[in-house]
Amino acid sequence: MTDTTSVQQADDYDYDRSALRAKLARVSQEPGSAKPQPILTVDRIVRRFGGMTAVDVDHLEVQRGAITALIGPNGAGKTTFFNLITGFDRPTSAKSRFASAGDQYARWTFQGRALGSTSAYRVAQAGMVRTFQLTKALSRMTVLDNMMLGAQDQPGERMLAALFRPTWGRREQQIRTKAEELLARFKLDGKKDDYAGSLSGGQRKLLEMARALMSDPAMIMLDEPMAGVNPALTQSLLGHIESLRDQGTTVLFVEHDMHMVRHISDWVVVMAEGRIVAEGPPASVMRHQAVVDAYLGSHHDQDLGDDAVLEEDFEQAVAVEDAARAEQAETGEAAEAPSAGRED
Ligand SMILES: Nc1ncnc2c1ncn2[C@@H]1O[C@H](COP(=O)(O)OP(=O)(O)OP(=O)(O)O)[C@@H](O)[C@H]1O
Ligand SMILES: [Mg+2]
Repeated sequence: MTDTTSVQQADDYDYDRSALRAKLARVSQEPGSAKPQPILTVDRIVRRFGGMTAVDVDHLEVQRGAITALIGPNGAGKTTFFNLITGFDRPTSAKSRFASAGDQYARWTFQGRALGSTSAYRVAQAGMVRTFQLTKALSRMTVLDNMMLGAQDQPGERMLAALFRPTWGRREQQIRTKAEELLARFKLDGKKDDYAGSLSGGQRKLLEMARALMSDPAMIMLDEPMAGVNPALTQSLLGHIESLRDQGTTVLFVEHDMHMVRHISDWVVVMAEGRIVAEGPPASVMRHQAVVDAYLGSHHDQDLGDDAVLEEDFEQAVAVEDAARAEQAETGEAAEAPSAGRED
């Protein structure tokens, strides 16, 4: 590794990926199953919009050191779930001031720290950062400035530090060096002085990932990192994600691209209609009845007995969905929750 990134490390991080996979192979494949070393544990997180329940997750554990994919059809609640646990939205089941002992309310902990009423900024400081399905790079700012904004603990924002300009200057230089190293790693160094608005969709995705890494997160959450990325870049993006894991960053990502899911994930969690309906290693989870039902709906009449047919159906269902999403993107409809705009 050529940069100065120092990831928040934990003793129980499985740097050896085959050991990690062997461990996961012994984990129960029931929704909500216990993991050997959970970095994130979520309980009773419910989000309703009017009469519609977008998220209703009873229990979920994410294994430290694993690349976990969160998959599910459009509208399953994946982005809403990300918004909730990163502090960009509040659960309907949040603890209220009037809660009494014995009440059931949403609770989630990251590295043992309760995050229930923590702001998005503090969640990021706690080591959990996310990227957005619809990229949030600031178009009228340069690529490098976007990166510098991603740095945790921005000294320039603190009044007191601003009074001691020499310290501030040194820290800013460190941040700049780190930003430049990350940009080089994502092959965006040639664009550092360009406006972020001039980047292609794929380059913006890379910029967003690079920016998220400015704060040395213990876990990075990627919402559809491959969407809109040029096929020529996808392989390198996969490589980036795997090397992040290898260097000590737990990865949780939402993705519709099943090639990517199968290729890089150690564990797959399937969501449908707000609930976790299946979990398991990629190869076996895709054959799960609940997964086929989630993607095809319950009104299909194909013979689901044969695994080959099943995989084909599954992929077909995903392809139909991708086409629908592309159309949606063309007509300019945004699927992302408006609450995600509370980024700053
Ligand atoms: N702010 C909101 N107000 C009302 N409904 C919302 C809001 N945000 C999300 N929803 C609804 O909640 C459900 C879950 O949406 P969400 O965006 O989380 O799904 P998703 O799994 O991320 O889908 P996709 O794969 O298309 O990105 C959808 O029915 C969506 O329309
Ligand atoms: Mg989404």
